[in-house]
Amino acid sequence: MAETPEKKIKHVAIIMDGNGRWAKQRGLPRSEGHKEGAKTVERVLKAAKAFDIEYITLYAFSTENWKRTKDEVSGLMSLLKEFLEGNLSFLKKNETRLRVIGRIDDLPYITRTVLKKVIKDTSHYTDRQLILALSYGGRAEIVDAVKKIATDVENKELSPEDIDEKLFSKYLYAPDVPDPDLMIRTSGEMRISNFLLWQLSYSELWVTDVLWPDFGEKDFEEAIKNYYKRERRHGGV
Ligand code: FPP
Repeated sequence: MAETPEKKIKHVAIIMDGNGRWAKQRGLPRSEGHKEGAKTVERVLKAAKAFDIEYITLYAFSTENWKRTKDEVSGLMSLLKEFLEGNLSFLKKNETRLRVIGRIDDLPYITRTVLKKVIKDTSHYTDRQLILALSYGGRAEIVDAVKKIATDVENKELSPEDIDEKLFSKYLYAPDVPDPDLMIRTSGEMRISNFLLWQLSYSELWVTDVLWPDFGEKDFEEAIKNYYKRERRHGGV
């Protein structure tokens, strides 16, 4: 059945790409691009609140990002810590719960400590969620789900006949979060890059050439408005 464009956007997922290119264009180190990118995150969270979007998922660090130089990885981890420390009051003021998806145990101890604190301090909020994908890979998430299912089958808590799409999705990192309605990717690449492979099956995609550090409220608004113009059929007619 065709869904009318009036269907309210609940969940927007974003691939924040182009920090490196933004810095290169200005003859700056990549770290400056990431710093500017962190400011965009703050802008987008404000815009998301204005549009009353319940869930924002940000691809902040992928399983592939570990291959970057040691300096860039540690710079990103410090930036994340600064962002969390600097935005805890914003999250509280806006009653936003922080969550994380990904292989969190891979993150440095200090990053995990700050994350745990912010997650705990915001865990009681129910209306709005910021979900950070960290050391995240869509294939890794599926593999992790399969391992948990295999363990449950081995322990006779589950029988193979019980496995269907609904049950499978319960084994993902954040099973209660609805699939994204819209996925935005900045800086022009037409790829999903191992992001939310299961959950993006029916999401609308919006790719803009704007680099993430330049992405502003107007760009966000354009993506949202375009979403409402589309008709979603989910395979129906
Ligand atoms: C992609 O740009 C961006 C990342 C790998 C990291 C995203 C991180 C931030 C936006 C800042 C910190 C995050 C938070 C939540 C505070 P790229 O480096 O791949 O850019 P390029 O493709 O132009 O090289």
